[in-house]
Amino acid sequence: MADLQIAGLMKQFGGFTAVNDVNITVHDGEFVFLLGPSGCGKTTTLRMIAGLEMPTSGRIEIAGRNVTFLRPRHRNIGMVFQDYGLYRHMTVFGNIAYPLEVRGLDKRAIADKVGAVAKTMQITDALQKKPDQLSAGQLQRVAIARMLVRDADVFLMDEPMSHLDAQLRGQMRAELRHIQKTVGVTTIFVTHDQLEAMTMADRIIVMKDGRMLQFATPREIFERPATEFVASFVGEPQMNILDCTLRRGDGAMLADCGPFAVTLDAGWVRANGLAKRDGQKLRLGIRPEHVSVGRDAGETHPVATELYSFEPTGAENLYVLRSGSVQVTTRTSTTETAHLGKTEGTRLAMRFDPNWIYLFDPDDGRTIAYAAASRPDAAEDAA
Ligand SMILES: Nc1ncnc2c1ncn2[C@@H]1O[C@H](COP(=O)(O)OP(=O)(O)OP(=O)(O)O)[C@@H](O)[C@H]1O
Ligand SMILES: [Mg+2]
Repeated sequence: MADLQIAGLMKQFGGFTAVNDVNITVHDGEFVFLLGPSGCGKTTTLRMIAGLEMPTSGRIEIAGRNVTFLRPRHRNIGMVFQDYGLYRHMTVFGNIAYPLEVRGLDKRAIADKVGAVAKTMQITDALQKKPDQLSAGQLQRVAIARMLVRDADVFLMDEPMSHLDAQLRGQMRAELRHIQKTVGVTTIFVTHDQLEAMTMADRIIVMKDGRMLQFATPREIFERPATEFVASFVGEPQMNILDCTLRRGDGAMLADCGPFAVTLDAGWVRANGLAKRDGQKLRLGIRPEHVSVGRDAGETHPVATELYSFEPTGAENLYVLRSGSVQVTTRTSTTETAHLGKTEGTRLAMRFDPNWIYLFDPDDGRTIAYAAASRPDAAEDAA
């Protein structure tokens, strides 16, 4: 077990910068996720930690030891690749045993260890089979077993669930989280699936174009996103993002979205110094669960809209509403909206919860004002 420190990590391929100034400290036993869209540099970062790729510059330390220029096998790392990298001519037993044989353990110890991880991963029945005879779910279990069998300092996993169907993925999320917490080995997990990261991680690193945008707990990433990109990358359905202009209304600041204007909370306006932004063009963000729907436009639901599309998910109803050219997705409980029309074109009304409005800078994407009801982690620690 060990902590992992990365400083100024950079990787260039020719003139192209794939990883740009990554700095992180991962604590002993932590489960950290690298989350970001395709091509943002997740795999390259992981391969540099593993020693499969040499950094252009920067430093990697595991348990206080500088491993930046060590060969992979001298780093004491266990890894699961996206394609699993199993040997097809070997049995499952042989595959899991391989890293132990390389290290010269005796047969008895190997059999014991392989038996134990096979039991953990529920693949005891498959030990004498070859990879070709296994399902996608079993193959993944074998790859994880091979990673677990070594007493590694750090585990690295690159999109290990991408070959599984949605149901298996759901099961494996809970199981992998349980195993990681049980074995307690520092683990870096790469994914582009925000749900995987949000449900399993202790902390998440959000990456884009080779850079880290934010490194924080799932709740902080969700409630206090550092940029508009982070805000819209996590959460399903996505946060609504609208162009708006701040202006002074009758005794209150408004975010004018064109067809309608949203009255901002006076205390929040003051706390974020928004009065001095009078006249500025900004981006307003609000998550679908913070927009409520009603039948008639009035005091409770001030904005008149038309139903563009209705999407029942079973437990919840998604209403996609339109006011002029502005489209807003809302997420409501089925009971709350049972009495409302569900046909396209129905007139409905909506209200933005003023406590859950975000403002972003349209130029650099940075968050200008977090939602009033969002809490930074520090607030939770103090509670
Ligand atoms: N060996 C290489 N030579 C040149 N360019 C590379 C090499 N490896 C990666 N890249 C480029 O670096 C960028 C980051 O690649 P990387 O594989 O790290 O992305 P990723 O975040 O893992 O994406 P994905 O989600 O698709 O796996 C991409 O633009 C990729 O084309
Ligand atoms: Mg990748």
